[in-house]
Parts: sequence; C-alpha cells; structure tokens
Amino acid sequence: MLIKKSKVAVVGCGLVGSSTAFSLVTQGVCDEILMIDINEERALGEVMDLRDTIKYLDRNVKVKAGTYSDCSDVDIIVITAGAPPKAGQTRLDTLGASAKIAKSIVEPVMASGFDGIFVVVSNPVDMVAYFVYKLSGLPKSQVIGTGTSLDTSRLQNFIAEMVNVDPRSVYAYSMGEHGDSQMVPWSTVTIAGKPFYDIIQDNKEIVGDVDLDDIVLKTAREGWEIYNRKGTTYYGIASACVGIIKAVLYDENKIIPVSTLLEGEYGQQDIYAGVPCILNRTGVADVLEIHMTEEELQRFRYSADLLHEYTDKIMEYL
Ligand code: LAC
Repeated sequence: MLIKKSKVAVVGCGLVGSSTAFSLVTQGVCDEILMIDINEERALGEVMDLRDTIKYLDRNVKVKAGTYSDCSDVDIIVITAGAPPKAGQTRLDTLGASAKIAKSIVEPVMASGFDGIFVVVSNPVDMVAYFVYKLSGLPKSQVIGTGTSLDTSRLQNFIAEMVNVDPRSVYAYSMGEHGDSQMVPWSTVTIAGKPFYDIIQDNKEIVGDVDLDDIVLKTAREGWEIYNRKGTTYYGIASACVGIIKAVLYDENKIIPVSTLLEGEYGQQDIYAGVPCILNRTGVADVLEIHMTEEELQRFRYSADLLHEYTDKIMEYL
C-alpha cells in the first residue's frame, strides 16, 4: 500500500512565493513542497533556507527544488510568478507581461499530466486566473484566484479596529476586482449577527460618523499604502493563499472570497471575480450568491464591467 503524499508546488520564488512556502512549512500544511523558479539557483537557495527551519518546527515538511515536469502528482500549484507593478502602475498595467509568464508556466505544467488545483496569485489576479483556466482546460473548480481574499482581511481589520473586536469576529466580504473597483455589500456585514448598519447607529459615541465608501477605498488602496512604504507586499497575500490551500487540502468546506468563474451569479458571465466560495478538496465546490441591494449590485456590475474589459485584453495573449 502507498499512502499518498500531499504536495504543493510554488512557482515563483520571489517574496510572495517564498513567504507562501515559509508559511506552509511553519504551519506544517502538507507533506512536500516543490520550489520552482526560472532561476533554478534561486529556487535552490529557498529550499536550503527553508530546510534549515525544520529542526525547530513541529513537522518535517520536505522541501525540494523542482521543475514543471515534476508536477504530474502535485495537488496544488501556486502561481506567484508575474510582473510586479512599477511605481505609478496599477495591477492592470502588468497584464501582458503576467499573461506571457502564466503561459510559460501552464503549458509545460499541463504537459506533465497535472490534474490538481491551481491557486493563482499573480496580478492582475482575476484576469490571470481566467487566463490560466482557459489555457489549462481544467474545470473551473480547479483554478482559483486569490481574488479578494486579501482585501477581505484588510476590510475586516478596518471594521474590527472601529469597534474594537477581533477581525475574525467580523463577517464581511470585499468582492469584485482585486483592485480599485472592488466593492463591499454593506447590507450583509454583521458582527455577532448584528447588522453593521445597526452597530454604527447604536454606537455613535464610539465610531463617530462612518464613511463606508472611505473604508472601501482604504481597503482597495491598502496594498499601495504598503507598497509605498516597503516596495511590495507579501505576508498578507501569502497568508490568504495558505488559507485557501488549507481549505482545499483539509477538505474544510470553508467559505473564503476567491476569484472564480461566474456563470450567471450576480448577473455575470465569463469573468473571474472575487465572490465568497465554498472551498474543499474539489477546489471551488460552490459559488455563493449572497443577497445584495440594487445599489450594491450596481457597484458589483461596475467592477465586473472593468473585469470584462481586461479579460478581453488578456485573451489576446492566448
Ligand atoms: C496586494 C497585492 C498582492 O494587494 O496585490 O497586496
């Protein structure tokens, strides 16, 4: 008998890829990690550094350097390789370069016989995830974009700070594009079952005048606030990514907002957008359609329109 090992491949050994691998190792999420980078020495350097952590950890996760041809029996491939935005660029400006990189990864990976789950991190993530879905030919459940999973943790932090609770006790989602056009369906935001609208009304002496649009803007801009200070972001996105990987590998049925193919949900077709999904061993097991007000749907449509426009653009690279 052979007990199957759980394997995750991390493609791209920059700061996002290496932080993801570090988080996987320190949390002991899987049996084996393959580090893959076009710069093989860089990948090897990460492997050597990560191996040095094992003695002081609870689990001996095996970390190896790999190539695309090693991916046939990998459960999850995380794609972090991409073109990071330069100062003044948005995530959308990196579309062409990221598409070319994604193609150079997905084609050899699929040629290896891979039939696992892609977790796409590279920006602009909604378009790149759609591109990987099309390119791979895998079912939509097996191609997941990190989408608004990270924005949602940022949003929950901002709400939690206002009312002084643990962000994990806040029920709120950021949805749509992982970018400036994302929206929050405020009518669905609750803490301990109490609508956030009521919390604001009942706690004016604590929260003061709340500008909800400003919170959405702050959430969407937080990546740039970090970028302006340290040149890039990686811990937040790596944690969101590992949260998604755990939900899949542990078959959790956990609800996380990720970028997935919409097929009629929220009135949208044929784009990847951040919406709450049930994640388990099959990948995206279900797309949840939470009830939005007409105004919220309007805002979601605005974000979706932008995603349609850029999805058409990325498809030119197919
Ligand atoms: C961020 C990058 C991952 O928002 O897009 O931090």
